[in-house]
Amino acid sequence: MPPTDRASEQALLQSVAIVVAAGSGERLGAGRPKAFVDLGERPMLAWSLDAVAAAGVPRAVVAIPPGYGAIAEELFAGDDPPAPVEGGFPLGLVFVEGGATRSESVRNALHAAGPDAAAVLVHDAARPMVTPDLFTRTLAALADADAAIAAARVTDTIKEAGADGIVVRTHDRSRLWAIQTPQAFRADVLRRALAAGEDVLAQATDDAWLVERAGGTVRVVESPAANFKVTTPHDLALADSLLC
Ligand code: CTP
Ligand code: MG
Repeated sequence: MPPTDRASEQALLQSVAIVVAAGSGERLGAGRPKAFVDLGERPMLAWSLDAVAAAGVPRAVVAIPPGYGAIAEELFAGDDPPAPVEGGFPLGLVFVEGGATRSESVRNALHAAGPDAAAVLVHDAARPMVTPDLFTRTLAALADADAAIAAARVTDTIKEAGADGIVVRTHDRSRLWAIQTPQAFRADVLRRALAAGEDVLAQATDDAWLVERAGGTVRVVESPAANFKVTTPHDLALADSLLC
């Protein structure tokens, strides 16, 4: 095995995935939490867990809504756990109760992940089209960064307008990225970032921003076009037509 492959194999072995699945899915309006809504006859969460397992990440901590522990155990940790790829590992799965906000869910899961992991991959269960390759590429990009985040190039022209609706600026699209998950972090960096005060956490729209504001290096990793977030019924129909 060449040295770089050995280094990435080592990085995988020391990583843990945090999958946040504790949201209520209000905009989807399916009458149950989004991660438990069927996509191709499987709960949406199953697609992300398969990609985590196929990437060779050995452990996942999943934040789920309060009251969903028994359902999650039955669906995912019972007779039919996410399949390891040939020669890979069975995925070690732990479920924890999420919090009232996404960052609280990340914090709860990070706490449950324990002190051993060197790298943490944070992923939204609402992005079921994620590929194993995107997990391994974000993890590999940590070699020279504190965080490495999946991102899509912005294809629309972005203009900034004032409260009166009048355009004040057109941004240089070639430098703009729409941020997604997975997001990989050095574990100590993420722990420090999430230890910020409640007022700071409340402003954070993603975990990587907390690293940026602390002066850390955050690298973007270009993701495939299909890694969109399922938010509305239209997104669910699109994901269904692409995955099934
Ligand atoms: N999430 C979470 N805990 C929360 C809120 C969100 O774990 N308290 C997770 C969701 O399960 C999802 C991801 O964060 O995988 C992105 O959130 P979003 O797409 O907003 O999902 P929901 O909050 O479930 O949807 P909505 O905002 O429409 O209610
Ligand atoms: Mg939400």
